[in-house]
Amino acid sequence: MNERFVEPEQLDHLPADHPEAVRSRRDLRIINAMLGTRRWLEKRIPVGAAVLELGAGDGSMCRGSSWTGLDLAPRPIDLPQACSWVQGDMFDASNWPKVGVIVANLFLHHFNEDQLQWLGQQIRRSCGLFLACEPRRHPLPMASGALLATLCDFSPVTWNDMMISIRAGFRGAELADALGFNSGFRVSETLLGSYRLEVHL
Ligand SMILES: C[S@@+](CC[C@H](N)C(=O)[O-])C[C@H]1O[C@@H](n2cnc3c(N)ncnc32)[C@H](O)[C@@H]1O
Repeated sequence: MNERFVEPEQLDHLPADHPEAVRSRRDLRIINAMLGTRRWLEKRIPVGAAVLELGAGDGSMCRGSSWTGLDLAPRPIDLPQACSWVQGDMFDASNWPKVGVIVANLFLHHFNEDQLQWLGQQIRRSCGLFLACEPRRHPLPMASGALLATLCDFSPVTWNDMMISIRAGFRGAELADALGFNSGFRVSETLLGSYRLEVHL
């Protein structure tokens, strides 16, 4: 697992209301809870800051009127009214509102080096704080992920995408380098498989 290996994931090619997509998004909520993602984000986001979440999925991280979710998928039906939603492609800069904080969760590993370079430039123009939680590319999360998938009866889509995601995940300063951040960043990696990047711009 020395090199990143980026492959298409099944969830990205299923209609948002497909039963396996619905089940897989439920599984993602379990994974996020196990990884402690919300707690890590909430500790770092200043109260009241305007936040843009890239690839917001089912919107389960979105909190209140200061949040905007951006995703190819339509606005989730159970998203709180107060949250804003942009349905569109992240690679279209006109879809990005100007905010204080940009968040990406289990999203950036989908992209190759050229795409991440474009994204880094766009992030630098758009916010003062960038927070990312991605899969850690390591054999340990492969094993703990398989155990969790068995215990929680994950969908075959989640099983497939989880292994692909870990192989496409990050280590060390890889994500900061790919985004073009040379300083002002901190990386942490957890035993359960979260790779976290915090960048002050
Ligand atoms: C693995 S899901 C993660 C969702 C969410 N962040 C979470 O943690 O549950 C990846 C999401 O990225 C979205 N996505 C993929 N490519 C995109 C793009 N180019 N622009 C916007 N959203 C995209 C997909 O629609 C999907 O909802």
